[in-house]
Amino acid sequence: MARHLVTGGAGFIGSHVSEALLARGDQVRVFDSFDPYYDPAIKRATAAELSAQGVEVVEGDLRDADAVARAVEGIDGVVHLAARPGVRASIEDPHTTFAINVTGTLNLLEALRAAGVQRLAFASSSSVYGGDATAPFREAQPASRPLSPYAASKRANELMAATYVELFGLGAIGLRFFTVYGPRGRPDMAIGKFLRRAYLGEAIPLFGDGSVIRDFTYVDDIVRGVVAALDRATPGEFHVSNIGGGATTSMRELLGLIEEVSGVTLEIEQLPAAAGDMPLTHADLTRAEALLGFESRVPLREGLERTAAWTRRALGLG
Ligand SMILES: NC(=O)c1ccc[n+]([C@@H]2O[C@H](COP(=O)([O-])OP(=O)(O)OC[C@H]3O[C@@H](n4cnc5c(N)ncnc54)[C@H](O)[C@@H]3O)[C@@H](O)[C@H]2O)c1
Repeated sequence: MARHLVTGGAGFIGSHVSEALLARGDQVRVFDSFDPYYDPAIKRATAAELSAQGVEVVEGDLRDADAVARAVEGIDGVVHLAARPGVRASIEDPHTTFAINVTGTLNLLEALRAAGVQRLAFASSSSVYGGDATAPFREAQPASRPLSPYAASKRANELMAATYVELFGLGAIGLRFFTVYGPRGRPDMAIGKFLRRAYLGEAIPLFGDGSVIRDFTYVDDIVRGVVAALDRATPGEFHVSNIGGGATTSMRELLGLIEEVSGVTLEIEQLPAAAGDMPLTHADLTRAEALLGFESRVPLREGLERTAAWTRRALGLG
């Protein structure tokens, strides 16, 4: 039976990946620090749910090289999702972003080398396309003008993993996720926050004039991409691949859809445009399909309906 490590497994995407691996019969060990970027109680509750389903949960910090080395013992493959997410947080506190995302990932790569683990799928981000990007974004584009420390840290992860493939024969696939949403979504991200506030009758904070365009990806699609990448990782090969919805929606259109799905008329609180944000993201999925057999299956409207139902349950609204 395959044994996999999921770093950041108590978080949004990691918890869904852990459940998908369990469901197909793999053994799963989660490594997570319950970082305070958002309420750690949410992550501890998720970890307790995973534990009850048979996941081994290890509390530890990527910045602690010894803890990371212990976490990879006896592991066949790794899904590396632990990170300090968030563009704005990285502008306010770039040192923490780099300590976790860059030094932490280096600790993991060193641990994999020492333990001889050869399969790695890891989270990169659509933000690596930065100022160079021409939509739809293709992996062959340069990605050398990141707009935030967060984007730079994710691009650094890709380059670091590529180096370990060259030097030590690791098999690694970096996945450029495009704005992910769904049940257990991060409370700092637009869709989860907007739905929660809609149901609670609170104003919706909107950065900029609503013209920012995003390629939103439902979490089940992301999970299929991650699991396919873990299975596809081949010693001596390095790849990056987009995992996105493949369609674009402006924030203004998103607000309209949220009104329709929730049945609530939204009160918008307009805020200045956020520094470091990409004005537009859009995934070209040609490589994801060729490399991973990936296709996006959940359209935004359907994903929003599922997320809205989960949000109502989480708020105790039935
Ligand atoms: N959600 C998105 O739209 C999106 C888009 C692009 C990329 N990503 C990337 O996907 C990954 C997962 O994101 P998410 O949205 O699930 O975020 P999340 O914050 O819900 O999950 C990250 C998890 O990592 C853990 N963690 C943070 N610092 C740690 C450390 N030092 N040691 C061990 N664990 C630590 C956190 O406690 C958390 O449980 C991240 O790498 C993120 O940068 C996410």
